[in-house]
Amino acid sequence: MSNKTALITGATSGIGRATAHEFAKHGINLILCGRRQERLDTIEKALEKQTKVHTLNFDVRDKTAVFDAIQSLPKDFKQIDILINNAGNAHGLDPIQEGDLDDWDAMMDINVKGLLYVSKAVIPQMTKRQTGQIINIGSSAGKEVYPNGNVYCASKHAVVAVTEGMRIDLNPYGIKVTAINPGLVETEFSKVRFKGDAKADTVYKGYKALQPEDIAEVIYFAVSRPAHVNIADVLMFCTAQASSTIVNKN
Ligand SMILES: NC(=O)c1ccc[n+]([C@@H]2O[C@H](COP(=O)([O-])OP(=O)(O)OC[C@H]3O[C@@H](n4cnc5c(N)ncnc54)[C@H](OP(=O)(O)O)[C@@H]3O)[C@@H](O)[C@H]2O)c1
Repeated sequence: MSNKTALITGATSGIGRATAHEFAKHGINLILCGRRQERLDTIEKALEKQTKVHTLNFDVRDKTAVFDAIQSLPKDFKQIDILINNAGNAHGLDPIQEGDLDDWDAMMDINVKGLLYVSKAVIPQMTKRQTGQIINIGSSAGKEVYPNGNVYCASKHAVVAVTEGMRIDLNPYGIKVTAINPGLVETEFSKVRFKGDAKADTVYKGYKALQPEDIAEVIYFAVSRPAHVNIADVLMFCTAQASSTIVNKN
C-alpha cells in the first residue's frame, strides 16, 4: 500500500483522524482535510515520521474551495488512489415539526452535497486511470429511520443511494465503491449534534460504543483487499447495539 495516496475528509477528529493513523501505519500517503488547521498541523506532525502528509483546509460546502484545494495539490500528491468521504455530522435531534432550518441545511449541505463536490473533483482522474477506490462513510441512519432522526437519516439514506449510484456508473472504469455504515461511535459527533449541550455526555454512557479505531480498521481492510475484491457495503454496530433504537445499557 506504500505507493498509494488517500484523501480523507473530516480528518481532524473521530473516524477520519483514526483512519489517518491507521493508513499511516501502512505507509499510505495522506491528504488530510478539515476546517481546523491547528488540528491538521498536529496530526501532520504526528504522522509525518510514518508517511508523506499534505493538509488541505476547506469547507466541503464551498464548491469553489473544494475544487481549488484539490487543484492546488503538489505534484507528489496529485494522484489520489483512495478517497474517503467522511466529513459529516448530525445537527440536532428534533421532531420534524420542530426542526431547525439551519440544522437541515448543514446536514444536507455537508453530508450529501459536500460529499458530491469532493467526489466530483476527484473522480475524473480515477476514470482516466481506470482505477481507484471511493469509501463513503454512511451510517446505520442510512439504513433505518429513528425517532427525531428525520433529516440526518435522510442525508445518510442519500449517502447510501449515491454510493450505489457511484458503484453502478463507475463500474466500467474498474473503480471500487464502498459504503461503511456505523452505528454509535464515540467521537465528537454528539458534541456537534447537541451543540455542546450536556446531553452529549450521556450518549456513550452505560455501554461500550464503537471506537473510531474500530471503523478505521474496517476501512483499511476494505482498501487492502486484492484488486478483484470490492467490499460494497458494511453495517457495523457495537455489541450493545442491535438497531438504531435498541441499545443494551447498564
Ligand atoms: N459518531 C457516530 O456515532 C457516527 C455514526 C455513524 C456515522 N457517522 C459518520 O461518520 C463521519 C465522521 O463522523 P465522526 O463520528 O468522526 O464525527 P466528528 O468527530 O465530529 O468528526 C467530523 C469530521 O467532519 C469534519 N467536518 C464537519 N463539517 C465539515 C465541513 N463543513 N467541511 C469540512 N469538514 C467538516 C470535521 O472537521 P472540521 O470541523 O475540522 O472541519 C471533523 O473532522 C460522519 O459522516 C458521520 O455522519 C458517525
